Amino acid sequence: MKSLALLFAAALTSSAACAAVDLAAGAATAQACMACHGPGGVSATPEIPSLAGQPDAFLQWQLVFFRTGQRKSPVMQPMAQALKDDDIRNVAAFFAAQKPARPANVSPADPALMAQARKVVAGNRCAACHKDDFSGTQATARLAGQREDYLLKALRDFKSGARNGGAMAAMMEVVAPLADDDLRALAHLLAHL
Ligand code: HEC
Ligand code: HEC
Repeated sequence: MKSLALLFAAALTSSAACAAVDLAAGAATAQACMACHGPGGVSATPEIPSLAGQPDAFLQWQLVFFRTGQRKSPVMQPMAQALKDDDIRNVAAFFAAQKPARPANVSPADPALMAQARKVVAGNRCAACHKDDFSGTQATARLAGQREDYLLKALRDFKSGARNGGAMAAMMEVVAPLADDDLRALAHLLAHL
């Protein structure tokens, strides 16, 4: 089941390189998404992630994971099940092309939390996968400027096993040794990048 979904996702992303992406169709599909994910994919709603500027492949993988049920969400699973392969390619290309931005009204950074998080980041090679500026690449998420509440939820979901990262268990291993106050510090830092 897992390997099937993986093959399927790989086929989706690799064929995206040759198949022409229809950005206008992606923009049309995205209208329904922006009710929750915010105008231009910058979310104003707690625990709903911004999608603007996420790597195209990351967005496609997550939609396939929701569609197959490998990633659980009572909200996103039915949304993704309504998307055909072309819809996924087009809507992912649309959100990947939107300008990432921090949400409005981000609270000022707490220097103690930022310092604690920088140590955890350095000790756990987060930037090796997520890039030095945390803009993400391929199947690895953009984290810079993401909502703090959502980042904390995502980290806790990996820690509890509620989210397993599909076929790539990388994140579960990364968070396993981290304490909850490390997760809170990390979410704070990344939201302020
Ligand atoms: C009713 C609200 C709602 C709508 C409409 C909605 N989403 Fe979501 N979406 C969510 C929530 C909530 C999550 C976070 C799920 C979680 O906590 O794991 C999410 C997560 C995602 C993620 C994972 C992002 C990440 O950083 O991990 C993607 C990709 C996504 N949605 C794409 C879409 C697309 C594309 C559409 C439109 C076709 C859409 N969503 C419509 C609520 C919504
Ligand atoms: C070995 C590579 C690797 C390392 C190291 C790594 N990550 Fe990740 N991370 C990933 C991948 C791949 C994903 C996408 C997982 C998925 O598909 O669900 C991800 C997803 C995430 C997400 C979810 C983002 C979203 O929008 O849903 C967060 C938050 C995150 N990583 C934070 C971190 C932090 C903080 C560290 C360091 C403590 C770290 N990662 C280290 C590979 C890595």
